[in-house]
Amino acid sequence: MRPMDRNPPPLKALPADANIATARAHSNIAFIKYWGNRDTQLRLPANSSLSMNLAQLHSSTTVAWSPQLPADSLLINGDLAPAPALQRVQRHLSQLRQRLGIAGHAQVESRNNFPMGTGIASSAAAFAALTVAAVRAANLDLPERELSTLARLGSGSAARSIPAGFVQWHAGDSHASSYAERILPAEHWDLVDVVALLSRQHKRVGSSHGHDSADSSVLQAARVSSAALRLQAAIEALQARDFPRFATVVEEDSLLMHAVMLTSKPPLHYMLPSSLAILQAVRRWRERDGLPVCATMDAGPNVHCICTTAQAAEVQRRLRALIPGLELLVSGVGAGALVLPT
Ligand code: DP6
Repeated sequence: MRPMDRNPPPLKALPADANIATARAHSNIAFIKYWGNRDTQLRLPANSSLSMNLAQLHSSTTVAWSPQLPADSLLINGDLAPAPALQRVQRHLSQLRQRLGIAGHAQVESRNNFPMGTGIASSAAAFAALTVAAVRAANLDLPERELSTLARLGSGSAARSIPAGFVQWHAGDSHASSYAERILPAEHWDLVDVVALLSRQHKRVGSSHGHDSADSSVLQAARVSSAALRLQAAIEALQARDFPRFATVVEEDSLLMHAVMLTSKPPLHYMLPSSLAILQAVRRWRERDGLPVCATMDAGPNVHCICTTAQAAEVQRRLRALIPGLELLVSGVGAGALVLPT
């Protein structure tokens, strides 16, 4: 067995010299999407993106560094992680070791309060929490901007889960210049994400492979070259709390990304028939009934219905009437990644 494949069970008692820290980070939902990388190794994205953190959906991760640990290990929700997840975390830990001069291996324990791999950016919360815990456990105190660049190396969207509230990820053209920052505080607008959870199954093609195939669609160049305009429009709509303008640009951006996915080689079909039914219904509710709600989707079948607190109950009621038995996750705007007391 190669050393990379080993996932030793956690030690009952950590070595006395172990340095431990725990961090929590929230998932985020993108209003202007990240899809495709200019540099795959560094995860320099093809375009800048915009998101809000999700208060109710988070990962908490404990990292213990010790020179005495034989290898990096990973528990997710109490279970030994499967090889692909372990290897991705080991790659990230190796980058942190190399860039920050950390010695030893790490025992990592992560817990999510939401299902993974269903298009609600579990990797964003996971790699943001892992990065903050790993840096803190190494007794380092880094500025938010640097934490964001480091989290990005693990998962692009994790860069956006470091700052609080409404967040812009500047695409940049180097490791140091590709980072996310808060553009508006969480209190600015009481937006709510009502997630229609249409599938809990692990997605067959993960985002990382999707990013790699984005350029195989003839539509990607058009999406990327017009992304800055949509970003500007979305930021202005957010600043002005202008829901109609916000809804138009958020839906357009999501559909452009799915148009790229659908026309990539091979095509990526993340939508289910029920996803499409919700997208159509949301538009009807907004345009026919005047209900301020819009819809966006990530790399999975679930539909994120964005509205304000005042409309959240009505949006949930309508979604349940549309699809009886539908499971929903509901979240307001969340905080940034933070170290928890141990
Ligand atoms: C569709 O950040 O999950 O959710 O960098 O390979 O980990 P990796 O990809 P990831 O991609 C997220 C893609 C998206 C859109 C978005 O969140 O902006």
